Amino acid sequence: MVDNIEFETPKLLLHDYVADQFAAPSGFGGSLIALAMRVINWLPYQAAVARLSVRQDDRMLEIGFGPGSGLRRLTKQAVFGKVFGIDRSRTMVSIATARNQASIDAGQLRLAEGSFEALPLPEQSVDAVLAVNILYFVDPLHKALSEAYRVLAPGGRLVIYVTDHSHMSWLQFNGSETKNIFTTDSLASSLTASEFGAGSISIEKVWLPFGFRGLVAVATKPAS
Ligand SMILES: C[S@@+](CC[C@H](N)C(=O)[O-])C[C@H]1O[C@@H](n2cnc3c(N)ncnc32)[C@H](O)[C@@H]1O
Repeated sequence: MVDNIEFETPKLLLHDYVADQFAAPSGFGGSLIALAMRVINWLPYQAAVARLSVRQDDRMLEIGFGPGSGLRRLTKQAVFGKVFGIDRSRTMVSIATARNQASIDAGQLRLAEGSFEALPLPEQSVDAVLAVNILYFVDPLHKALSEAYRVLAPGGRLVIYVTDHSHMSWLQFNGSETKNIFTTDSLASSLTASEFGAGSISIEKVWLPFGFRGLVAVATKPAS
């Protein structure tokens, strides 16, 4: 007699696989996910980069750049500046490198593997930090926010995009790598509890297709 063997359904396995690939893309599946990200995340990037107020000589950092669409926007706008990119996925670093080779060769862009929770940059070394669709995966969240604060120069700004969890309850896409989910209130309270503090934070809602709602937060480090 066989007792209590539990089978995972193919639907669950696929769900977990896709969710984990968004968090840490790797191999052939990661390359397919990269194509999906380029389409799905066009509008979130549009909204987030618009709020970065990029200056031509800015030193910028994008964390969790994925296939590298945001990096292209940043290098086009900060034409006399420098752009750094950090992502923990080797697959994404190699896809984004191929897509941005000209900027790398010109010395304007540098990409590296690394984590949000321990950024491989000196303190006060960048004027702006961009983090699109990555905050769900950082652990612990307060350490990642603290790292963003550390690397920002006084007066520097952090722009975050996350999809509002309360508007995606019909599509639960949490995998084992999802550590944080956000609503306007939870995003505001995480930022308020960080070094950025309440005074420097604004959060805007942006509507996306199919009833999704995005949240774009801007947090500014005090000028002195
Ligand atoms: C959902 S993808 C988003 C990619 C891109 N920003 C976009 O919106 O299209 C998340 C990216 O963040 C990276 N990532 C996740 N957690 C990370 C962490 N703790 N540190 C660095 N990179 C991380 C993943 O490797 C992946 O490339």
